[in-house]
Amino acid sequence: MIFKQVFDQKSSTYTYLIASSKGREALIIDPVLENVGDYIKILKELNLRLVKVIDTHIHADHVTGASKLKDITKCSTIMGDHSPAEAVEIRVKDDELIKLDNLKIRAIYTPGHTSDSYSYLMDNYLFSGDTLLINGTGRTDFQNGNARDAYNSIFNKLLKLPDETLLYPAHDYKGEKVSTIGKEKRQNPRLQVSCVSEYEEIMNNLNLKKPSKIDFNVSKNINLGA
Ligand SMILES: [Fe+2]
Repeated sequence: MIFKQVFDQKSSTYTYLIASSKGREALIIDPVLENVGDYIKILKELNLRLVKVIDTHIHADHVTGASKLKDITKCSTIMGDHSPAEAVEIRVKDDELIKLDNLKIRAIYTPGHTSDSYSYLMDNYLFSGDTLLINGTGRTDFQNGNARDAYNSIFNKLLKLPDETLLYPAHDYKGEKVSTIGKEKRQNPRLQVSCVSEYEEIMNNLNLKKPSKIDFNVSKNINLGA
Protein backbone atom coordinates (compact mmCIF):
# COMPACT_ATOMS: atom_id res chain seq x y z
CA MET A 1 0.00 0.00 0.00
CA ILE A 2 1.19 3.50 -0.84
CA PHE A 3 0.11 6.29 1.50
CA LYS A 4 0.71 10.06 1.38
CA GLN A 5 -0.57 12.84 3.62
CA VAL A 6 -0.54 16.30 2.02
CA PHE A 7 -1.11 19.48 4.04
CA ASP A 8 -2.81 22.63 2.78
CA GLN A 9 -1.35 25.60 4.67
CA LYS A 10 -4.19 28.02 3.95
CA SER A 11 -7.06 25.90 5.30
CA SER A 12 -5.01 23.49 7.46
CA THR A 13 -6.59 20.63 5.50
CA TYR A 14 -5.07 17.18 5.22
CA THR A 15 -5.54 15.41 1.91
CA TYR A 16 -4.78 11.70 1.67
CA LEU A 17 -3.57 9.68 -1.26
CA ILE A 18 -3.90 5.91 -1.01
CA ALA A 19 -2.76 3.54 -3.72
CA SER A 20 -2.25 -0.10 -4.33
CA SER A 21 1.40 -0.86 -5.04
CA LYS A 22 0.36 -3.84 -7.15
CA GLY A 23 -2.19 -2.47 -9.62
CA ARG A 24 -1.10 1.22 -9.26
CA GLU A 25 -4.70 2.41 -8.75
CA ALA A 26 -4.96 5.47 -6.51
CA LEU A 27 -7.66 7.22 -4.52
CA ILE A 28 -7.58 10.74 -3.03
CA ILE A 29 -9.58 11.82 0.01
CA ASP A 30 -10.49 15.49 0.53
CA PRO A 31 -8.48 17.21 -2.22
CA VAL A 32 -8.04 20.99 -2.10
CA LEU A 33 -8.58 22.80 -5.42
CA GLU A 34 -5.39 24.91 -5.23
CA ASN A 35 -3.24 21.81 -4.71
CA VAL A 36 -4.50 19.70 -7.62
CA GLY A 37 -1.24 20.33 -9.51
CA ASP A 38 0.74 18.89 -6.58
CA TYR A 39 -1.44 15.74 -6.49
CA ILE A 40 -0.99 15.23 -10.24
CA LYS A 41 2.77 15.56 -9.78
CA ILE A 42 2.79 12.96 -6.99
CA LEU A 43 0.66 10.58 -9.07
CA LYS A 44 3.08 10.93 -12.00
CA GLU A 45 6.18 10.53 -9.84
CA LEU A 46 4.80 7.35 -8.30
CA ASN A 47 3.42 6.05 -11.59
CA LEU A 48 -0.13 5.87 -10.24
CA ARG A 49 -3.50 6.09 -11.94
CA LEU A 50 -6.11 8.08 -10.05
CA VAL A 51 -9.40 6.17 -10.24
CA LYS A 52 -11.44 7.59 -7.35
CA VAL A 53 -11.75 10.80 -5.37
CA ILE A 54 -13.73 11.11 -2.15
CA ASP A 55 -14.98 14.13 -0.23
CA THR A 56 -15.82 13.19 3.36
CA HIS A 57 -18.46 15.95 3.42
CA ILE A 58 -19.26 19.33 1.86
CA HIS A 59 -16.44 21.45 3.25
CA ALA A 60 -16.98 25.00 4.45
CA ASP A 61 -13.37 26.17 4.60
CA HIS A 62 -11.89 25.30 1.22
CA VAL A 63 -13.00 24.41 -2.29
CA THR A 64 -12.67 20.75 -3.21
CA GLY A 65 -10.44 19.69 -6.07
CA ALA A 66 -12.69 16.71 -6.90
CA SER A 67 -14.16 18.12 -10.10
CA LYS A 68 -10.79 19.34 -11.42
CA LEU A 69 -9.19 15.96 -10.68
CA LYS A 70 -12.02 14.27 -12.53
CA ASP A 71 -11.51 16.56 -15.54
CA ILE A 72 -7.79 15.77 -15.66
CA THR A 73 -7.75 12.05 -14.80
CA LYS A 74 -11.32 10.84 -15.56
CA CYS A 75 -11.50 9.45 -12.01
CA SER A 76 -14.90 8.80 -10.38
CA THR A 77 -16.22 11.11 -7.69
CA ILE A 78 -17.53 9.59 -4.46
CA MET A 79 -19.47 10.91 -1.49
CA GLY A 80 -21.83 9.38 1.01
CA ASP A 81 -25.43 9.03 -0.09
CA HIS A 82 -26.52 11.91 2.18
CA SER A 83 -24.50 14.37 0.10
CA PRO A 84 -26.40 17.32 -1.36
CA ALA A 85 -23.91 17.44 -4.27
CA GLU A 86 -25.84 16.34 -7.36
CA ALA A 87 -22.69 15.92 -9.46
CA VAL A 88 -21.40 13.03 -7.34
CA GLU A 89 -21.20 9.88 -9.46
CA ILE A 90 -20.92 7.19 -6.79
CA ARG A 91 -22.91 7.54 -3.59
CA VAL A 92 -21.85 5.08 -0.93
CA LYS A 93 -24.01 3.88 1.91
CA ASP A 94 -23.06 3.21 5.51
CA ASP A 95 -20.85 0.10 5.70
CA GLU A 96 -20.38 -0.09 1.92
CA LEU A 97 -16.97 -1.18 0.63
CA ILE A 98 -15.04 0.84 -1.94
CA LYS A 99 -12.52 -1.23 -3.88
CA LEU A 100 -9.12 -0.09 -5.09
CA ASP A 101 -7.33 -3.02 -6.68
CA ASN A 102 -6.82 -5.36 -3.72
CA LEU A 103 -7.55 -2.66 -1.11
CA LYS A 104 -10.95 -2.20 0.51
CA ILE A 105 -12.17 1.03 2.11
CA ARG A 106 -15.27 0.92 4.28
CA ALA A 107 -17.65 3.91 4.36
CA ILE A 108 -19.02 4.77 7.80
CA TYR A 109 -21.88 7.25 8.07
CA THR A 110 -20.89 9.68 10.82
CA PRO A 111 -23.28 12.66 10.78
CA GLY A 112 -23.03 15.46 13.32
CA HIS A 113 -20.39 17.89 12.06
CA THR A 114 -22.61 18.06 8.98
CA SER A 115 -25.56 15.87 8.05
CA ASP A 116 -23.58 14.43 5.11
CA SER A 117 -20.36 13.52 6.94
CA TYR A 118 -18.82 10.10 6.29
CA SER A 119 -15.64 8.57 7.65
CA TYR A 120 -13.62 5.96 5.77
CA LEU A 121 -11.72 3.00 7.17
CA MET A 122 -8.99 1.11 5.36
CA ASP A 123 -7.40 -1.64 7.48
CA ASN A 124 -6.46 0.29 10.62
CA TYR A 125 -6.36 3.71 8.94
CA LEU A 126 -9.38 5.83 9.84
CA PHE A 127 -10.05 8.93 7.74
CA SER A 128 -12.47 10.76 9.99
CA GLY A 129 -13.11 13.94 8.01
CA ASP A 130 -14.13 16.59 10.53
CA THR A 131 -16.10 14.18 12.72
CA LEU A 132 -13.20 13.33 15.04
CA LEU A 133 -10.10 15.54 15.13
CA ILE A 134 -6.87 15.18 17.10
CA ASN A 135 -7.64 16.67 20.52
CA GLY A 136 -10.90 18.01 19.18
CA THR A 137 -14.11 17.29 17.30
CA GLY A 138 -15.81 19.00 14.37
CA ARG A 139 -18.09 21.92 15.17
CA THR A 140 -21.80 21.24 14.81
CA ASP A 141 -23.27 24.70 14.32
CA PHE A 142 -23.82 24.84 10.55
CA GLN A 143 -24.69 22.69 7.48
CA ASN A 144 -27.33 20.78 9.47
CA GLY A 145 -24.78 19.92 12.13
CA ASN A 146 -26.12 18.35 15.28
CA ALA A 147 -24.25 17.71 18.53
CA ARG A 148 -26.41 14.71 19.45
CA ASP A 149 -25.70 13.04 16.08
CA ALA A 150 -22.00 13.88 16.46
CA TYR A 151 -21.91 12.23 19.88
CA ASN A 152 -23.53 9.11 18.48
CA SER A 153 -21.15 9.00 15.49
CA ILE A 154 -18.08 9.48 17.67
CA PHE A 155 -18.95 7.39 20.71
CA ASN A 156 -21.03 4.64 19.14
CA LYS A 157 -19.14 4.24 15.88
CA LEU A 158 -15.59 5.64 15.73
CA LEU A 159 -14.57 5.02 19.34
CA LYS A 160 -15.79 1.42 19.03
CA LEU A 161 -12.91 0.76 16.61
CA PRO A 162 -9.82 -0.89 18.13
CA ASP A 163 -7.63 1.42 20.24
CA GLU A 164 -4.68 0.98 17.87
CA THR A 165 -6.66 2.33 14.87
CA LEU A 166 -4.74 5.23 13.32
CA LEU A 167 -6.68 8.48 13.20
CA TYR A 168 -6.16 10.69 10.16
CA PRO A 169 -8.50 13.71 10.31
CA ALA A 170 -9.28 16.25 7.58
CA HIS A 171 -7.72 19.09 9.56
CA ASP A 172 -5.20 19.92 12.19
CA TYR A 173 -4.38 23.41 13.32
CA LYS A 174 -1.42 22.56 15.56
CA GLY A 175 0.79 20.46 13.32
CA GLU A 176 -0.35 17.04 14.61
CA LYS A 177 -0.31 14.50 11.82
CA VAL A 178 -1.77 11.33 13.26
CA SER A 179 -3.25 9.95 16.45
CA THR A 180 -4.94 6.72 17.51
CA ILE A 181 -8.43 5.95 18.75
CA GLY A 182 -6.97 4.87 22.11
CA LYS A 183 -5.03 8.09 22.55
CA GLU A 184 -8.07 10.22 21.69
CA LYS A 185 -10.25 8.27 24.14
CA ARG A 186 -7.76 9.06 26.90
CA GLN A 187 -6.66 12.59 26.00
CA ASN A 188 -9.13 14.39 23.74
CA PRO A 189 -10.77 16.98 26.05
CA ARG A 190 -14.07 16.88 24.10
CA LEU A 191 -14.41 13.17 24.76
CA GLN A 192 -14.15 13.37 28.54
CA VAL A 193 -17.93 13.56 28.97
CA SER A 194 -20.25 11.14 30.71
CA CYS A 195 -23.35 11.48 28.52
CA VAL A 196 -24.80 12.95 25.35
CA SER A 197 -26.31 15.99 27.08
CA GLU A 198 -22.93 16.93 28.53
CA TYR A 199 -21.48 16.78 25.01
CA GLU A 200 -24.35 18.86 23.61
CA GLU A 201 -23.77 21.44 26.33
CA ILE A 202 -20.11 21.83 25.24
CA MET A 203 -20.83 21.89 21.53
CA ASN A 204 -23.75 24.30 21.74
CA ASN A 205 -21.70 26.84 23.67
CA LEU A 206 -18.51 27.05 21.62
CA ASN A 207 -19.47 30.44 20.16
CA LEU A 208 -17.14 30.04 17.19
CA LYS A 209 -16.82 32.58 14.42
CA LYS A 210 -18.41 31.63 11.10
CA PRO A 211 -15.61 30.53 8.72
CA SER A 212 -14.72 33.22 6.20
CA LYS A 213 -16.01 32.47 2.68
CA ILE A 214 -18.27 29.65 3.98
CA ASP A 215 -21.10 30.60 1.59
CA PHE A 216 -18.77 30.77 -1.41
CA ASN A 217 -17.00 27.50 -0.50
CA VAL A 218 -20.22 25.56 0.15
CA SER A 219 -21.80 26.80 -3.09
CA LYS A 220 -18.70 25.70 -5.02
CA ASN A 221 -18.49 22.36 -3.21
CA ILE A 222 -22.12 21.52 -3.98
CA ASN A 223 -20.77 21.33 -7.56
CA LEU A 224 -17.63 19.47 -6.41
CA GLY A 225 -15.58 22.61 -6.91
CA ALA A 226 -16.51 23.11 -10.58
FE1 LIG B 1 -15.97 20.47 7.68
